[in-house]
Amino acid sequence: MSDDGNRSTVVPLMRPRLPTADQVLPRLRSIDASGWYSNFGPQVRSLEARLAELLGVPAETVITAASATRGLEGALAISGTHRWEVPAWTFAATVGAALGAGKQLRFVDVEEHSWWLESSAPARIVVAPFGSWRDDVILSCDEVVVDAAASLGAMPRLSGIGPRVTVVFSLGATKVLGSGEGGFAVFGSAERAEQFREWTRHGFRDDRIAYTIGSNAKLSEHAAAYAHTALDLWGQERAEWDRARGLARDVEHATGLTSHPGVAAHPNPYWIVMFPDRGTRDLAERTLAAHGVETRRWWADGCHRMPGFEAVERGDLPRSDRAAETSLALPMFREIGEIEAHRIADALRQTRLLAGTW
Ligand SMILES: Cc1ncc(COP(=O)(O)O)c(C=O)c1O
Repeated sequence: MSDDGNRSTVVPLMRPRLPTADQVLPRLRSIDASGWYSNFGPQVRSLEARLAELLGVPAETVITAASATRGLEGALAISGTHRWEVPAWTFAATVGAALGAGKQLRFVDVEEHSWWLESSAPARIVVAPFGSWRDDVILSCDEVVVDAAASLGAMPRLSGIGPRVTVVFSLGATKVLGSGEGGFAVFGSAERAEQFREWTRHGFRDDRIAYTIGSNAKLSEHAAAYAHTALDLWGQERAEWDRARGLARDVEHATGLTSHPGVAAHPNPYWIVMFPDRGTRDLAERTLAAHGVETRRWWADGCHRMPGFEAVERGDLPRSDRAAETSLALPMFREIGEIEAHRIADALRQTRLLAGTW
């Protein structure tokens, strides 16, 4: 790492790392030999089986997709339910995917500390915020689509999944087990899973007839080869995330800052810290920038404040506003080191000095 500690280089927010070309090569060669590049070839089918085993569910209930966004869109598109509740405090993909599936949405607030959706509506999209996880979310008898895009690092056991529950994960480059672009959905019923597979391939079954309105949302064999290789290397990746999280924890102890409760429990590509108010968060943002530390407001001011979603119905959303105003993402990547951690800690100490306290 070429950081000399004197602010001449920037500490990046993320440094995505996929398996190397050399590591993936045997699988790419096997794709060359098979001549099968998409349409649920051997890499994709064996990846689905492998993910199913990892999460403790039947193989036929795991279906890959080109991304988590397409996974969410398809999971909603195959549902006959029109009205869904969705958290305002989420990434734009959650809302965009649901609107793309033609659903009517209502923005609902999140719980104050956990940021999980506060709703018992019969049809709801529940977001696992910033890679967090909660086992009870899959146990519902309601119709629930869980956007767990960044939560694969939790390696949840999904064996108790309700028949009308779907959980969608991302394999995007910035995620744990990142593979470029990709995702998959886990269904509580094999029938729904098959409908979803149909949706990802233009509504086709075994012939070239669209039985339902579908799309092209298939995962390529190449992307699946990267995902397989990332899984082969998971032990090493997990250890690197744990070490990075340990450094983040040290910085928190040294500065008295706390991170969002969900992010520290398991390998997770985010470090989200909480400030007492917007003024202090903004001050931290400026001070970190002056120290050459990248930060991000990953979900901006919340989806309810985005022009693209202004037509979406909404209730009161004070906790979504507060989450947006008081949180900030700090750098988190597998190779983060002591030098970067010290720079972040220095900037946070200076923020605390300027702010008085927190
Ligand atoms: C909460 C959430 N939902 C959905 C997505 C979209 O995932 P993908 O990039 O695989 O489409 C992301 C990606 O960061 C996300 O954080």
